[in-house]
Amino acid sequence: KPLHFVTLLGSLRKASFNAAVARALPSLAPDGVAVTPLGSVGEFPLYDQDIQDAGFPAPVLAMADQIRAADGVIIVTPEYNYSIPGGLKNAIDWLSRISPQPLARKPVAIQTASPGMIGGARAQYHLRQSLVFLDAVVLNRPEVMIGQVADKVGADPLELTDAATRAFLTRQLGALATLAQKVKG
Ligand code: FNR
Repeated sequence: KPLHFVTLLGSLRKASFNAAVARALPSLAPDGVAVTPLGSVGEFPLYDQDIQDAGFPAPVLAMADQIRAADGVIIVTPEYNYSIPGGLKNAIDWLSRISPQPLARKPVAIQTASPGMIGGARAQYHLRQSLVFLDAVVLNRPEVMIGQVADKVGADPLELTDAATRAFLTRQLGALATLAQKVKG
């Protein structure tokens, strides 16, 4: 059965390394797997229940619909201060308030990239912690933590060129596809 995954990006900046990783995913997906990007988390206001009570913002509703329709979500994000960026946490907080909650029982893969050595590993465990409460089905392995990412991209255009990293991403997408088929039944 064909599968459709969507990518959720934790960085807002134009020259984002994580955005370069996310852009590579459609071409790295195994046969029968399509990958498309979600909207920017930068379009969400800061979570405020008063805004929610007046009506969910349109970008939140649109992203929730896209996630519900997808077979899986790939979260690609930098690590900020050993955790996830506030914008990504804000998006998760908004999505968690919508009913039906879009990430419930949804297969999710996590990818982090950093110019540092650790590749954003510490952010992954904070992200997993929130996804427990949302009852997402988070892929355990392989873990994609791309360290020294500045050496793994071409400058112009900014794209992920490192062959080993690209092959590894294909492996994780394959593992997510296996998980998604299982969840689909
Ligand atoms: C960072 N950076 C960073 N890197 C890391 O490996 N661990 C960390 O805890 C942090 N903390 C951190 C906090 C803040 C506020 C910023 C702005 C940056 C560096 C970060 O990995 C680097 O800026 C990346 O290039 C950000 O990802 P994008 O935007 O290139 O995808």
